[in-house]
Amino acid sequence: MQRAVSPYLCHVLVCTNDRHGERKSCADGQSVLLREQLKDAVAQRPHLKGRVRVSAAGCLGLCARGPNVMLYPQAIWFSGVTPADLPQLLEAVEAAAAAPAP
Ligand code: FES
Repeated sequence: MQRAVSPYLCHVLVCTNDRHGERKSCADGQSVLLREQLKDAVAQRPHLKGRVRVSAAGCLGLCARGPNVMLYPQAIWFSGVTPADLPQLLEAVEAAAAAPAP
């Protein structure tokens, strides 16, 4: 095992967990589409290349509040997110990537 500092200033974790209707999960609320949109939007911003990573995450534990998106290491949590929130999410990602790492 090797230990290293994260290469990303901001890692965006989008819960895409899908329980297929057995009980509430973030995929019920278009989180898969949201992750794709976020990933595309970040890729279209060259200044974020190598600084921000958008990843699908399994359950983040607050399913009832989902869809959930977490920015790490900023410890910013968004709940009840929809694709319509993309501009606000990008604003937060831009701010996180611009600030010095905590
Ligand atoms: S299913 Fe997304 S937080 Fe649990």
